[in-house]
Amino acid sequence: MDWRSLATAAIFSCALALPAAAETLRALAQAANIRIGAAVDIPTLNKDPAYAQLLAREFNLLTPENALKFSVVHPQRDRYDFSQADALLAFAEAHHMQVNGHVLVWHQQLPDWLTQGHFSRDELKDILREHIQTLVTRYRGRIASWDVAAEAVAEDGRPRETFWSRGIGADYLALAFRWAHEADPQARLRYNDYGGEGGGAKSDGIYDLVADLRWQGVPISSVGLQMHVAIADAPRAADVRANMQRLAALGLEPDITEMDVMLKQPSNAAALRAQAGVYRDMLQACLAVAQCRSFSTWGATDRYSWIPEFFPGQGTALLFDEEYRPKPAYYSIRRALKASLP
Ligand code: XIL
Repeated sequence: MDWRSLATAAIFSCALALPAAAETLRALAQAANIRIGAAVDIPTLNKDPAYAQLLAREFNLLTPENALKFSVVHPQRDRYDFSQADALLAFAEAHHMQVNGHVLVWHQQLPDWLTQGHFSRDELKDILREHIQTLVTRYRGRIASWDVAAEAVAEDGRPRETFWSRGIGADYLALAFRWAHEADPQARLRYNDYGGEGGGAKSDGIYDLVADLRWQGVPISSVGLQMHVAIADAPRAADVRANMQRLAALGLEPDITEMDVMLKQPSNAAALRAQAGVYRDMLQACLAVAQCRSFSTWGATDRYSWIPEFFPGQGTALLFDEEYRPKPAYYSIRRALKASLP
């Protein structure tokens, strides 16, 4: 090989390992006028520079995986711990990324002081209002959107009975949105759920819930379709699109907020290709509906993902492998973004 072909080979292999700046997901998403996001684990962000670099290169929206959950950020009744969330905000702002706050009222990851506290309805309302307004006020103007409420609908489409619904009553959802809006009138406020992305009873239940909130004049602006799926149970793209359209017709922006596509382990090339197809289909549904403003995955690299722990035997669910290399799903997302550009 002469020096010229050696140099060409070097440039080529470099381009293969690292997408050119104009070809990263975040550059293409920006051109397509949507946000591309990932959930981030802050302790990992603080100790793994390659992970931080990957996030900053490819994404322009971050959701803290745990840092703003009740038990993490509000571990005692009179004590908040913002150390992780503050670190995330600093990182995001240094890299010109938006932050999605996650999550204000949810029935999981609640601290014992709260669930074991035997509080009255009025006390719980005070606690929840103080919690919401402390978080939203602290980051007013810096956290552009909040997952205000999550997973309030059961699998059959009826309201889910939870710590909050039992303790406060069905109006806890409307109250949560109103309190968040008081604290930051500019923030986009979202209801976020799983398993109702396409059609079916749960999707209808979510639709009815958010329609009712709209009719009451509750300040809700977005619905998050989480999209934790497996190849075999992924919703049909046409159903996701139709669901997004009916939510948009209510004046709500439907976003894909937590996508991952779990594969039975060990996975193989065919499964990775099928996974790429599911990612492409769901992104295309979002791109087809003008009100879908963001597409986020629940993590970035298979090295750090909640799937193996919560779904034993499953894994490799994200866009980058354990060595941070782009997977077929990454390329399918990139192609779909590119194809959507004028
Ligand atoms: C998960 C986190 O990824 C885990 O680290 C944690 O132990 C449990 O919660 N839907 C959601 C997320 O809205 O908050 C969940 O995150 C995954 C499912």
